[in-house]
Amino acid sequence: MTETIENAGRRTPLYESVANRISYLVEEGTFRPGEKIPSIRSLSHQFGVSINTIKQAYAYLEDRRVVEARPQSGYFVCARLPEVPVAPQVSKREISPTEVSLGDLSQMILRDTMNPDLLQLGISAPAMDMLPIEKLNRMISSELRRKPEQSMEYAVPPGNKRLRTQVAKRMLLAGCTLRPDEIVTTTGCMEAVFLALKVLCRPGDTVAVESPTFFNFLQLIESLGLKALEIPTSPADGISLEALEYALGQNRISACLVVSNFSNPLGSIMPDARKQEMVELLERHDVPLIEDDIHGDIAFANERPLVARSYDKEGNVLLCSSFSKTVAPGYRVGWIAPGRYQKEIEALKMAVTVASASPTQMAVGQFLANGGYERHLRKLRRESATRVARMSEAIGVYFPEGTKVTRPRGGFCLWVEMPAAVDSLKLYAEAVDSGITIAPGPIFSATGKFSNCIRLNAALWSEKIEHAIKTLGELASRQV
Ligand SMILES: Cc1ncc(COP(=O)(O)O)c(C=O)c1O
Repeated sequence: MTETIENAGRRTPLYESVANRISYLVEEGTFRPGEKIPSIRSLSHQFGVSINTIKQAYAYLEDRRVVEARPQSGYFVCARLPEVPVAPQVSKREISPTEVSLGDLSQMILRDTMNPDLLQLGISAPAMDMLPIEKLNRMISSELRRKPEQSMEYAVPPGNKRLRTQVAKRMLLAGCTLRPDEIVTTTGCMEAVFLALKVLCRPGDTVAVESPTFFNFLQLIESLGLKALEIPTSPADGISLEALEYALGQNRISACLVVSNFSNPLGSIMPDARKQEMVELLERHDVPLIEDDIHGDIAFANERPLVARSYDKEGNVLLCSSFSKTVAPGYRVGWIAPGRYQKEIEALKMAVTVASASPTQMAVGQFLANGGYERHLRKLRRESATRVARMSEAIGVYFPEGTKVTRPRGGFCLWVEMPAAVDSLKLYAEAVDSGITIAPGPIFSATGKFSNCIRLNAALWSEKIEHAIKTLGELASRQV
């Protein structure tokens, strides 16, 4: 039964009164976005009310997006900005293949990304203070001492066995039963995606991609002489299967490239049922799926989500990932589970790069086996969730009215949709003049969409970054 209390002549349910007290503490800044609020048990003790009342209060606050539950971690304060709309409006006419020609944009991004004097909010990389640098340093030197010859040899495809065994074990958590010999190690996730596209497509072929999609995928598609077919994608639940089905009926598509967990740039995650539907849809049309799961381990809930590959019965999904977001971007340790394309991928890998570097594969293999990867992930997940919330909150404070931001549940990409008058390329140029890079919306589209959007790297947080967000907000406000 719901307990009530008398409040200004009205009987208010007790849980609502408790919820209002917590809301007040959030509004007043006692609990800040991303911060953990007291557990149900301790609040029940503190307020002298039943556990059930606190549970009802938290459910009430969850409905109102004041707090969010993270399985096995508790309740956390949400960011307070309006969310980017759920479903992008795209007419069917717009769903057609386009040649990719990023032109000067690629050069511009490359030049500025290499500039050490700029604050890099435009790249999507983990913050160095979140990575296990010292531990890996120790592991790589002990591996080199223990196995000097192995570290010098080519780790020819399928690559370092220990690493593949560890990856196979971990992928059980993503719903996949993989044997180590079903995995091929690569030089980062980008090489995995490159090998998959190269095996599946010939120049002039069409690849279906999310829209917006990761900038480097468009670069890869351009460099291979392929066409991109942009499928509308929602921050809430990923690629539109309705639009994908329509596109499959109208076009010859050679592959579909999707980041199903915490996509880049939207941070969207496809619910399991939609992952399954996507796998079945593509199978019916005999179109292979290249699935990139690079952010899958950075789920803010303490459990990683399943991958679409877990629903694959025919070997039609080529699953790609790496340890660039979780362990060491510079180690370039990635992998692909190529399904029925195993032989072709191994042969191409051998032809193009022979093998990936042995010492870094050995070090990551050792870190996964004995280095406390799971413990490291728990910290990384907690810290990423907090920084994403902090940056969202700062955007809410400093950006022009009408700005919306995504609410990712993993990874560290934040997608910011500003009022229509804001030109993100102009903002980019002004931001660089102020010492900051951003990723302007149009680089995530082959057709120049998203002109009023930007992607920010929320892995970074400090006073300096808050100041940079303020500067960006002021620059954007001048355009409104
Ligand atoms: C979705 C996605 N795939 C691939 C990559 C690149 O991965 P790697 O550095 O392992 O090649 C990134 C990095 O930003 C990414 O966001």
